[in-house]
Amino acid sequence: MAQRSTFLVFGATGGTGKHFVAQALQDGHRVRALVRDPAKLGAAQSDPNLEVHQGSITDAPNLDELVRGADYVVSMLGDKHAQSVSKIDTAFVKQLVPAMRQHGVKRFLYQAGGLSKPYNGYTPWSIWVFRTFFISSFRGQHEDNEAVMVYLATEATDIEWIVHRAGIIGDGPSKGTLQRSTTSPSIGVFRDCAEYSHRLIRESAAIHTSDFSHYVKA
Ligand SMILES: NC(=O)c1ccc[n+]([C@@H]2O[C@H](COP(=O)([O-])OP(=O)(O)OC[C@H]3O[C@@H](n4cnc5c(N)ncnc54)[C@H](OP(=O)(O)O)[C@@H]3O)[C@@H](O)[C@H]2O)c1
Repeated sequence: MAQRSTFLVFGATGGTGKHFVAQALQDGHRVRALVRDPAKLGAAQSDPNLEVHQGSITDAPNLDELVRGADYVVSMLGDKHAQSVSKIDTAFVKQLVPAMRQHGVKRFLYQAGGLSKPYNGYTPWSIWVFRTFFISSFRGQHEDNEAVMVYLATEATDIEWIVHRAGIIGDGPSKGTLQRSTTSPSIGVFRDCAEYSHRLIRESAAIHTSDFSHYVKA
């Protein structure tokens, strides 16, 4: 096993997050998770390396308690209903980053969507049409993810943030290995995105990037 680390995970009961937690525990790492409903963690709940804190990012969680001693912070958050009303992730990341500074925790991976525009990037018309007319219920989530990227790029350059703009279709078996790409998004499965994020968060070259992930050609 690589060096044993402590991952602070937000979104641990979600599509990507549950795989991320399972993989981290399987590799012998420690995981600390803020979850609204611990029962959703399933079998992982009984793992001695999992520390569960119950709560919501919108209810002022104790960030000192959560961040202290973490090596890596991971956000795989998503709530399209709440995000259609308010940018809850952005508001939370704006609280999280100062707590990270205070506790000397540098590395932060934020998972956004491949259809979200990176800071200073642009949205190709085809993606704009798809986002606007076919998946308009996710509009608030994309706008929230984009606001997180703006905040990180403009006000958190001292933090070693990495944004993964993931493309995901569902929860099937692995389709292969993802690698970072500035140009070509793949439509992956949750499991592969989680495995990729495990590697990505340790990749120094990925710091301050907001790239896609793409399947390595066999
Ligand atoms: N799903 C996709 O197809 C897809 C595709 C590309 C990119 N993405 C991006 O990937 C990211 C994660 O998506 P996902 O599909 O893996 O996640 P998801 O299945 O939607 O799960 C979201 C996670 O966030 C947690 N969460 C939401 N609001 C919370 C709150 N107020 N307090 C604490 N936890 C909260 C949820 O907890 P509960 O279990 O309690 O709800 C859940 O664990 C998002 O930024 C999304 O845009 C997703």
